[in-house]
Amino acid sequence: MELLSADAAGIARAARALAQGRLVAIPTETVYGLGANAFDIEAVARVFEAKKRPTFDPLIVHIAEIGSLDEVAYFPGELARRLAAACWPGPLTLVLPKRERVPGLVTSGLDSVAVRMPAHPVAREIIRLSGVPVAAPSANPFGYLSPTRAEHVVRMLGNEVDFVVDGGACEIGVESTVLDVTGKVPRILRPGGLPRAAIEAVCGPVELAVGAPSRPESPGQLESHYAPRARLRLVQAGALARSPVADADALLFFDESSRRAFHEARTGSGHAGLERVLSSAGDLRQAAAALFDALHDFDQAGVTAIWAERVPAEGLGLAVNDRLWKASDKS
Ligand code: TXA
Ligand code: MG
Repeated sequence: MELLSADAAGIARAARALAQGRLVAIPTETVYGLGANAFDIEAVARVFEAKKRPTFDPLIVHIAEIGSLDEVAYFPGELARRLAAACWPGPLTLVLPKRERVPGLVTSGLDSVAVRMPAHPVAREIIRLSGVPVAAPSANPFGYLSPTRAEHVVRMLGNEVDFVVDGGACEIGVESTVLDVTGKVPRILRPGGLPRAAIEAVCGPVELAVGAPSRPESPGQLESHYAPRARLRLVQAGALARSPVADADALLFFDESSRRAFHEARTGSGHAGLERVLSSAGDLRQAAAALFDALHDFDQAGVTAIWAERVPAEGLGLAVNDRLWKASDKS
């Protein structure tokens, strides 16, 4: 594995490597992606191997400009076209009817393909220069926390990838919103970096796929996903102050007032373990950006039991709560 900086030379090197069938981890505004040329079946197969990802879980194909969409998919109607025009580049993935040329391995045999145009300038420049659409799942072992920093990728997949491009910390910090626009009403398969309200402002009401269906429409819906090694207990928003956290060696608070309430409720018998506050002022964007980073840090510190509280269920809070729930111990 070689670490590349996100300067002109690093970007050119990464683009060339992708075109040649190598695996390149790239920064995006959501999380780091593990990129491969989407038209190169051997490279795509290596992505599944590197992540130990089951082949029934399809990949997102990334493009740099709207003109490239034609190579992989098409808009099934006006609504999809409008969403792409309004929300790309950005943290929205559209599930679209696929072109024949996209290998079945990328889409797990589905006749749809998930497509996203990332907003991160480094990601876009690498994709543009590579000249190919880039299949890229999050750059983490299957089921584990997504990476929001280059060092997370190096630690988790350093032995499996050819290059990691270091673009610093990801601004959004949770994965893109996956929206299926192949049906009558658009359907959110995975809440993510683009809030539902932003989507509905463009296309009117959308459906939200909820729960964990026995046959997930999108494996991001699997009950257990995005999980740290430590056991994570999830409580209601603001409820850590009232929770029996005796076995916890790490606490994850939403905001500072919640942390303060916790300590006031326990004067004298404070908490000896680690603590992280997602956003001291209670800002949901900051909370999303800090979430995976905090959980990676807890795992690095070797904690075994995390207690976390939900965040307010609005805007990006939906995506944060979704990831917390999937990371949590449901037994
Ligand atoms: O922000 C993101 O989306 C990041 C960055 C790298 O772009 N990528 C990412 O990819 O999170 P991944 O593979 O970890 O998640 C892709 C999600 C999965 O839940 C997958 O099941 C779903 O998209 N998906 C992909 N193709 C699909 C399809 N044709 N139909 C339904 N769901 C699909
Ligand atoms: Mg993932």
